[in-house]
Amino acid sequence: MIIKPEFLFIRCAKFVQCCKKLGSKKVSFLAKMTSSKKHIAPISNGNVSIRLICEDDIEIIRNWRNNDEIRLNFKNSDIISFQQQREWFLKYYADSTDYFFMILFEENQSICPVGAVALYSILDTKAEFGRCMMGNSEKRNRGVFFKACKLLFNIANFQLALSELKLEVFLVNERAIHVYKQLGFVETGRDELFLFMRLLNPSCEIT
Ligand SMILES: CC(C)(COP(=O)(O)OP(=O)(O)OC[C@H]1O[C@@H](n2cnc3c(N)ncnc32)[C@H](O)[C@@H]1OP(=O)(O)O)[C@@H](O)C(=O)NCCC(=O)NCCS
Repeated sequence: MIIKPEFLFIRCAKFVQCCKKLGSKKVSFLAKMTSSKKHIAPISNGNVSIRLICEDDIEIIRNWRNNDEIRLNFKNSDIISFQQQREWFLKYYADSTDYFFMILFEENQSICPVGAVALYSILDTKAEFGRCMMGNSEKRNRGVFFKACKLLFNIANFQLALSELKLEVFLVNERAIHVYKQLGFVETGRDELFLFMRLLNPSCEIT
């Protein structure tokens, strides 16, 4: 049976209303729903891998996102509640233009989530690149995020057929701007607060 995305969205919206009424803490109802997203298998390079986020990840991501070091670098810097995160995830789950990846790092034979990155608002061959965070601060500045982005670009190229990625970053976020430039993004404009960048034909080669 083919379930139309519109139908899923209506079901999701109804479920969100239902959760609000009941104050429900469970969204594992999702297990019975079919996501309209394309299936994307995990991909790795050495000790870094990325995979699509799942329901079990959302509290980890919320904790990272609510940390000041990350939160204050995001356009919406509000603290996200447990309930808001769940409502967001339901919408995300039904959205076929949004792919949010967990970054995993393998060390001493254990694999841990260390960050996240996303491609969203996909329209034809274009997408937004964002929700960039290295939640595990010990793994920051070590090239893990860079490698994860190269894996993301591989998916962008070969699975999502994207040829143009865009991003917005606070002008004061020098670290992120440096990394984005290393990844090949170039400035397309700026305003008082933000730098706008674009990457054409993202390369997944690590030189
Ligand atoms: C922005 C953020 C995600 C970047 O993560 P990071 O851990 O600093 O990034 P990385 O260490 O992977 O960055 C790339 C580094 O890899 C380098 N690099 C280049 N080629 C490389 C290669 N082949 N292999 C590995 N690293 C390489 C880059 O040059 C850079 O290193 P440098 O500082 O020595 O020049 C992280 O700082 C963060 O979470 N910040 C807070 C949240 C935030 O600001 N998000 C962005 C909102 S727009």
